[in-house]
Amino acid sequence: MKSSQFDERRMIVVPGNDSETIEFAVEHWITQAAESIADHGFFAVALSGGSTPKKIYQLLSQPHKSSRVEWKKVLLFWSDERAVPPDHPESNYRMAMEEAGFNQLPIPKENIFRMKAEKEIEAHAKAYEETIKTKLGGRPFDLIMLGMGEDGHTASLFPHTDALHMVNCLVAPNHVPQKNTWRMTFTFECINRSPHVVLYALGASKAAIVARVLTSPYHPDELPSQRIGTSEHKALYLLDNEASQNLFASLK
Ligand code: 6PG
Repeated sequence: MKSSQFDERRMIVVPGNDSETIEFAVEHWITQAAESIADHGFFAVALSGGSTPKKIYQLLSQPHKSSRVEWKKVLLFWSDERAVPPDHPESNYRMAMEEAGFNQLPIPKENIFRMKAEKEIEAHAKAYEETIKTKLGGRPFDLIMLGMGEDGHTASLFPHTDALHMVNCLVAPNHVPQKNTWRMTFTFECINRSPHVVLYALGASKAAIVARVLTSPYHPDELPSQRIGTSEHKALYLLDNEASQNLFASLK
């Protein structure tokens, strides 16, 4: 397994092929949950959309993994959501709960906080931020799970969109002209407050963007993922062999 500090803001771990990387991600999740619960009695985690996080939720929902998590102490949030109702095929909530199996887990309903992004998005973003503050008691998230798009977006922080510049808030409505839609998203401020942020990227289709985000000059308006991670809270890039292939080639 390749594991290294990439720079002062980012760590990289490459556990191996696709399934070895998913296995590592799930074990990391279970460890973070146990450590957070031992430390302060709950595990506040933010899920994201995307194909890689989905594979992680699916494995986590299997009995041999799920039996090792104290689900009653898990607080489930989302780091971004599409402007659709919870039963819509594009809903990130539906993906985790119904498609990936989280609705089979013994998580108390009152601990599941769906992002409502389908109507009155401004008001719902404010309400979601209040819920975060109340439920976390001012603590940061214990784990924020993120994917990375091939255009360099993460969560719903898309290139050149307004939410990239939002300050003094944790959650923002974001108009995404390139998709002709609205999204709700955590802000950089919210994400970078968390001591454990993981960017998961798997497969050859991510190889080019991973290398570009990590090695090209810092232009976060163009490549929002570049802004994830601080010297105090390093972001973890969890990559499989394929997604890391251009990166290691360009570093040789
Ligand atoms: C979403 C996301 C988004 C996603 C990336 C990667 O709701 O679309 O949260 O940030 O994680 O686009 O998605 P894939 O893994 O499917 O490429």
